[in-house]
Amino acid sequence: MMETIAQPVAGNELGDRIVKVNHAGEHGAVCIYSGQIFAARLIAPRLVNELTEFRCHELRHRAVFWAELQRRGKPRCHSYLLCGFGGYALGLITGLFGAGAIAATTVAVEQVVLRHLGQQLCVLRGNDPAAVSAISSIVSEEREHHARSSVHIKAGSVWAKLLTPVVSASTEAVIWLGMRL
Ligand SMILES: [Fe+2]
Ligand SMILES: [Fe+2]
Repeated sequence: MMETIAQPVAGNELGDRIVKVNHAGEHGAVCIYSGQIFAARLIAPRLVNELTEFRCHELRHRAVFWAELQRRGKPRCHSYLLCGFGGYALGLITGLFGAGAIAATTVAVEQVVLRHLGQQLCVLRGNDPAAVSAISSIVSEEREHHARSSVHIKAGSVWAKLLTPVVSASTEAVIWLGMRL
């Protein structure tokens, strides 16, 4: 009987992994915006205020998942530092190409993020309420980043065509890796 009681509640292990990967992902997002802000100050100063606002949201998202990880007694993901360095490099390099490239990067990242958040809510609903509430608390701001950045992309943008596949694939790869580390 003791073994039965000691069994984790179904879904919690998956919830732990998702909270961990989201925490690392939010760190990546903070660093993408930091890299973009650095580049935008030189090249597209009109975007600095908006990017700073978005980074503020990402800092809160990271804190939400960190608090949830600590509550569960789990360490951060092994991919955490990689997400930070990779994110900063992605933000800085794409940022140096200007407003169109910055917006295309944000839209591509957020599109993948929003799809994953939706899937996570589906698999966790009913078996991990704390993870569901952490995820639900960030979705509207991620939607806002996607929508407000889309406005900066001109129809037929070369940056959107060039960057979307690369950035989407990199974001997917980081999430895939994080779920396995
Ligand atoms: Fe976020
Ligand atoms: Fe975001």
